[in-house]
Amino acid sequence: MLILAIESSCDDTAAAVLEPERRIRSSVVSSQNEIHARFGGIVPELASRRHIEMIRPVVDEALAQASVDLDDIDLIAATQGPGLVGSLLVGFTFAKALALVRNLPCVGVDHMAGHLLSCLLEDPQPAFPYTALIVSGGNTSLFAVDDPLTFTRLGRTRDDAAGEAFDKVAKLLGLGYPGGPVISRLAAEGDPMAISFPRARLGPDSLDFSFSGLKTSVAAHIDSCRRQDAGPDVADVCASFQEAVIDVLADKTLAAAERTGHRRVVMGGGVAANPRLRTVLAERCAEGGFEMFMPAPALCTDNAAMIGLAGYYRFLGGHLAEADADAYSRSPLN
Ligand code: KG4
Repeated sequence: MLILAIESSCDDTAAAVLEPERRIRSSVVSSQNEIHARFGGIVPELASRRHIEMIRPVVDEALAQASVDLDDIDLIAATQGPGLVGSLLVGFTFAKALALVRNLPCVGVDHMAGHLLSCLLEDPQPAFPYTALIVSGGNTSLFAVDDPLTFTRLGRTRDDAAGEAFDKVAKLLGLGYPGGPVISRLAAEGDPMAISFPRARLGPDSLDFSFSGLKTSVAAHIDSCRRQDAGPDVADVCASFQEAVIDVLADKTLAAAERTGHRRVVMGGGVAANPRLRTVLAERCAEGGFEMFMPAPALCTDNAAMIGLAGYYRFLGGHLAEADADAYSRSPLN
């Protein structure tokens, strides 16, 4: 069985071909970073227009790299939500139309389910159940994952997602978009203890997150440096901000794993590509006696391979998308 998967929930147009149970035959991602960079964030209308231009070439490229054509495909999977509806509609409608004319089954996939299962594309893969931290530009949430179709949310951000905080702090520092990769690069040259930014715990038992106060505190620090004509030490701001985000992510992930009683911890989403977060969480899990699983950075950021895997499990569960199924902006999982 071969699955053609499509992902267009935000600003990346992605397609993949995979064999069920993990073997990725191809995974193609067309980034829109250069289109949105000058705005310091994603412009939804520009994103959907670019998806329309790119969807066909990206799907063709994924088929070509896998050395297959549409006749070889048995199942089509596409992200149905959550995300920008204009973006989602391009990929999801393309998938449904293709399935209709080729008489193939089609499944709609929740983007969060893709991130929650992406570590299953790697070796070794975690057994179920596990506790998962999903940390991206649109989401920061903790889940208990009992099987490939059963996810229970344990906590989520009450305001900004962690990746959004990275992007907004980068904008304040004039570092461009997306902020995560450049901040993590500069942070490596700075002192994480230089500035004491706040960590929002939200109460002793809370598994929720909040990053908007941290972002405001960084903005106030930058303003105050600029008023003194000194300008901020960019590397120190990056390192101290990043450390504040990571402290909270690691503490709450470990607390969630203690609460579920799971021995396995998993991470996914674009911010999971952050090298310092990967190191800290791996160390904290080892200290706590948890097994840690994280996908390679290319499978942390948005990709269609994870959508194909989650789609395969939905197909096995009998969840096919009707031709009139609609995209959705908010995840029922979240
Ligand atoms: O999962 P993703 O590709 O898209 C969604 O948001 O769904 O994640 C993109 C986010 C952006 O906010 C970006 O700044 C962040 O992931 N990101 C990082 C790193 N690489 C990407 N954040 C921190 N450190 C990184 N190395």
